Amino acid sequence: MQLHENLWERSDAEFPSGGTLEEQLRFLIGYATLAPSGHNTQPWLFGTGPDWVDVIADRTRALPIVDPHDRELTISCGAAIGLFEIAARRFSLQTDVALSPDGAFHDHLAQITVSEGQPPSDAEIALFEAILTRRTDRSAYYMEALPDDLDPACRDISEVDGINVRFVESGPIMEAIADLVSKGDQIQFDDPSFRRELAAWVHSFRLGSRDGMSGAGFGVPDILAPAARFVIRTFDLGNNVAAVDKNKILAGSPALVLLTSTADHVDDWLNSGRALARLLLLLTSRGYTASFLNQPIEVDELRPALQDAARATGLPQILLRVGRSERSPAPSARRALSDVIATD
Ligand SMILES: Cc1cc2nc3c(=O)[nH]c(=O)nc-3n(C[C@H](O)[C@H](O)[C@H](O)COP(=O)(O)O)c2cc1C
Repeated sequence: MQLHENLWERSDAEFPSGGTLEEQLRFLIGYATLAPSGHNTQPWLFGTGPDWVDVIADRTRALPIVDPHDRELTISCGAAIGLFEIAARRFSLQTDVALSPDGAFHDHLAQITVSEGQPPSDAEIALFEAILTRRTDRSAYYMEALPDDLDPACRDISEVDGINVRFVESGPIMEAIADLVSKGDQIQFDDPSFRRELAAWVHSFRLGSRDGMSGAGFGVPDILAPAARFVIRTFDLGNNVAAVDKNKILAGSPALVLLTSTADHVDDWLNSGRALARLLLLLTSRGYTASFLNQPIEVDELRPALQDAARATGLPQILLRVGRSERSPAPSARRALSDVIATD
């Protein structure tokens, strides 16, 4: 069967059920690459064997200013692992994930061994189907109460070793967190290196780029993406960006969700990413969307303040705003599979 080159348009009917397990694993990697990643850098590479997939960090795609320790890079790879696990279940495959399997080679983040398993449950199929419709949606959301069962469902689904999820809806805790996001935004945009790094990853899809963010992600028509980059590079947006963001948080976000871990090592970051993938897919399957407010986690001195403000026991890894929006944004670009899967 002819495979869709645009991975967002793949149908499960294209799964090579008559092929070898390794061919099937290569197909499933297509779903893994639909994971969210910082600035859409897609910092991952994959290798395959007869019954396993290796996940390797591609540190040439690191963001040394906003993410100097590759923490978010590793979370992004964890999200790709999470999507792979969910996609494998759709096709009745069982996964066994070994994190940091090779002490001498730190870029080798995980080895996923795959075997025959039980048919998927309805809940597993719903998560899988959400892979193709999940988007990072930076628009204002409807201000409405979230259903009571959403918070416990998100906590259940995100249960991965040591990861905790905390919902915050309105009130002084939300305001304190919004303040920290605003402060973080200001500190980051005051830094010319931060602006330069961000600008380098904002480009137009019309230029054929298969990574980075289109201007549309910032509310700029895609054709004007180079202008968005110019503005980011040329003007000090510090106060403006902070003001816009704070306003958006309080006026366009019915809930914030903080994901924390018990420790702050590579495996905790990978598990944060796996939990993030599950959480985002559950939200999508329930008609909700999310975007990221990681500024107070990325700015070192604000991270303990965020932990305090959210009354969280664990270490903050990801901060999201969650709600329903009017319409879903266009899918973001992805690199070709041939660029991310190693061949012998
Ligand atoms: C670890 C991580 C950090 C991110 N940080 C931000 C952020 O600070 N601001 C933002 O707008 N998006 C952030 N994103 C979202 C990415 O920009 C987004 O995933 C990427 O552009 C691809 O788009 P998609 O999620 O719609 O597929 C982050 C994503 C990940 C996984």
